[in-house]
Amino acid sequence: MAEFSPTASQREAIENRGGAVLVSAAAGSGKTRVLTERLMSRVTDPEAPADIDSFLVITYTRAAAAELKGRITDELADRIAADPSARHLRRQNALLQRAQIGTIHSFCTGLLRENCHLAGLLPDFAVADEDRARALKTLALERTLEAAYENPEPEFLLLTDTVGAGRDDRRLADLVLSLHDRMQCHARPEKWAERQVAALSETPEDAGDTPWGLELLDSGKADAQYWAGELNRLVALMAPESNAYIMKAYGGSISETSSALAAFAEAADRGWDAARDRLPIPFPRLGSLRNPPDAELAAFIKARRDACKEAMKKLAVTFAEPSEKLIGDLARTAPAMKA
Ligand SMILES: Nc1ncnc2c1ncn2[C@@H]1O[C@H](COP(=O)(O)OP(=O)(O)OP(=O)(O)O)[C@@H](O)[C@H]1O
Ligand SMILES: [Mg+2]
Repeated sequence: MAEFSPTASQREAIENRGGAVLVSAAAGSGKTRVLTERLMSRVTDPEAPADIDSFLVITYTRAAAAELKGRITDELADRIAADPSARHLRRQNALLQRAQIGTIHSFCTGLLRENCHLAGLLPDFAVADEDRARALKTLALERTLEAAYENPEPEFLLLTDTVGAGRDDRRLADLVLSLHDRMQCHARPEKWAERQVAALSETPEDAGDTPWGLELLDSGKADAQYWAGELNRLVALMAPESNAYIMKAYGGSISETSSALAAFAEAADRGWDAARDRLPIPFPRLGSLRNPPDAELAAFIKARRDACKEAMKKLAVTFAEPSEKLIGDLARTAPAMKA
């Protein structure tokens, strides 16, 4: 294996002890390498050499797990080759067979199989693949909906009305399945759902005070700040005297847009309607440029400004409705959503 001399931050991740370490780095920048080194440094620790089967090393895909196991195996072989007398290292080779290096799924399956009596599972249970899981979900949903239609509660009827289920349940079914999918991203999906329903029961004064409004304001603010910065960068590109002709045609318009974006970002802290008052973001017409000397720069500036205009269309859609109307809608649909 090629000589490895870790960078300062890699070294920090390798040598840090006694707490949680989160390594987030670009593709191919050495994350797996750092993980392998971190493991090896524990195994070869002169004070307290650890055994390789006392670690749990998990990743997400089978391919990644296979790569990880291969890398650890190779690394161990290299170290044994460099120091054949190291008994502790040679022992690790044998322990590697039962080391827990795999996917999170295989770890969880093993854990459940070992404790199937506690989990109420048959010892030969199998993990459903995606197709089977989808079929089971659809079946469960059909049964739930049938039961709900048999003795419909008013909230359920309101729900079917709201999503326009009518004779065909497809839209309602799709909605439930996609919501269920998304809920799985939360550590405790039921708790999350309870919180959402509780949030629906509060009638806030401003749409920006709802969890959803806050999220939209935050992301709108971040977008506006990003684009204000980008546009300022474009203005800076036009600043040199040699680009004065571009500045003359584009400068005024782009600066005006940038100031409006900054004002929107600032207003976003003061609530929904305050932010909404700053919309739409103005994009005054650009002056025309005939045969500019630096056509490439002019085209680049125009393209970035147009990209900003496109992005800001979404902002206008998000903030299309005033706070009062949104809160009214929310109050009316809340009972349906609780169903
Ligand atoms: N400090 C370093 N010096 C020399 N080589 C390095 C260094 N850090 C990483 N490498 C090498 O870079 C290559 C990519 O590293 P690695 O596979 O660990 O990256 P990764 O972040 O896990 O990639 P991926 O995102 O694809 O999983 C490997 O060959 C590794 O040995
Ligand atoms: Mg990797």
